[in-house]
Amino acid sequence: MAANRPSETTANWWRDAAIYQIYVRSFADGDGDGTGDLAGVRAKLPYLVELGVDALWFTPWYLSPLADGGYDVADYRTIDPAFGTLAEAEKLIAEARALGIRTIIDIVPNHVSDQHAWFTAALAAGPGSPERDLFHFRPGRGPDGAVPPNDWVSEFGGTPWTRLPDGEWYLHLFATQQPDLNWAHPTVRQEHEDVLRFWFERGVSGVRIDSAALPAKDPALPDFTEGRDPHPYIDRDELHDIYRSWRAIADEYGAIFVGEVWLPDAERFARYLRPDELHTAFNFNFLACPWDAGLLHSAIDDTLAEHALVGAPATWVLCNHDVTRTVTRYGRQDTGFDFAAKTFGTLTDLALGTRRARAAALLSLALPGAAYLYQGEELGLPEADIPRDRIQDPMHFRSGGTDPGRDGCRVPLPWSAQAPYAGFGSAVEPWLPQPAGWSSYAADAQDADPDSMLSLYREALRLRRTEPGFGSPGTAGERLTWLPTAPGVLAFTRTDRLVCVVNLTGEAVELPGHTEVLLTSGPLADGGRLPQDTAAWLRG
Ligand code: NOJ
Repeated sequence: MAANRPSETTANWWRDAAIYQIYVRSFADGDGDGTGDLAGVRAKLPYLVELGVDALWFTPWYLSPLADGGYDVADYRTIDPAFGTLAEAEKLIAEARALGIRTIIDIVPNHVSDQHAWFTAALAAGPGSPERDLFHFRPGRGPDGAVPPNDWVSEFGGTPWTRLPDGEWYLHLFATQQPDLNWAHPTVRQEHEDVLRFWFERGVSGVRIDSAALPAKDPALPDFTEGRDPHPYIDRDELHDIYRSWRAIADEYGAIFVGEVWLPDAERFARYLRPDELHTAFNFNFLACPWDAGLLHSAIDDTLAEHALVGAPATWVLCNHDVTRTVTRYGRQDTGFDFAAKTFGTLTDLALGTRRARAAALLSLALPGAAYLYQGEELGLPEADIPRDRIQDPMHFRSGGTDPGRDGCRVPLPWSAQAPYAGFGSAVEPWLPQPAGWSSYAADAQDADPDSMLSLYREALRLRRTEPGFGSPGTAGERLTWLPTAPGVLAFTRTDRLVCVVNLTGEAVELPGHTEVLLTSGPLADGGRLPQDTAAWLRG
């Protein structure tokens, strides 16, 4: 087993952890029914130890009709039977912890499933009932109430209001099956605090907060006019009080939060990371940044500056279960990420994208803070084209079929090149089809190949743990110093013992001064120069 970083055993582990995201449904199928499950994850724990990650973030594993891949929670205290049982989740948390890997779960405060007991009770109780106060029910507008109560737009497109046979409408910022909770109601707050305790009692070390800037609403639910300040449902000040009370609970257990906070304003973003609120938040500006030296340089500087405002560590994320896979994105003409720009059939050069994704891996894993990896990133999986009749993502349907949706990055993982369904474990076809050639990315095919993406990630994560040049949390290693370079080259030190250099120019460049080359994302060119779209870690 790889040596532990000094912080692994300390309260600071989260400040520089490597955290691996598991989309359970597509990770590994332990019972062969076509859907990934907890048995599959337990069987792969040795793989995750060998990969060298510090924690696992599980996307929602609770009872759910899976209208939005589990982000429609019907009961937080029950594991979805497709995934396993509560007892199995407890075993998994304990087994992983015994192997030095912590568990982070996903809580979705903005909404629940329309199958949640609160919502079915609210429907049954009818207009004006106290049960409906837990949600946002309103009469419609217009003479017969047929016009939605306001002009908001769902995050998935279309109106975020659905009308019931009794005439009332209910709010859902996402799919119809995801009614928004009313966070002004004390029962909603109390329940979420109880759910946090429920999972912390079971050994969970952290919580990812879904859509963390959305739960609070202006109680009047006014129309949204461009420039309305404060916004009726994004980033409202009431949220901070909620997260302060969550933080107090987490502190009792030594647990941490990571917020899904998509906010362009650096100062507003940093407010979520004040010392008595969330520990960390995802860095979506870095994730969405095009493969361009100047833009990456600015994204890194902006990230570090906004986090410095509140003394929080940054996070570095290249992809997740919502966005286009990195090797596909970096091989396109437009290498940035934007939900609004997603279309079917965008051309990509996978060899180029893979080369850049390898360099991006070394860049992101060298930066100070915590790093998130999404399952399959370490295998270099591309975005899959899902046949239209197999798409399940509500984002596709709510766009009227123009948005390909997010299933292309959620395809069941290939574990074994020779086994049926690339070794995902299914005896029947998995819930999403695997594209032709998927076996060539199988973990077992990459295992012994020193040039594979898997070997690169393993070695990078091993060095990130063991090289003193990366420093430890709270020390000089949490900072970064840029080195002077030619335009198009990024080079920085963490401490004077560790240099990361990335070449985004069109030609090979000289490496900065060093005593040893620790790792490169591809072979060096003649004379030891660094080729284009290649990164190196050097000992200074
Ligand atoms: C963000 C999650 O990452 C995404 O998958 C989900 O659809 C929405 N929040 C709604 O919960």
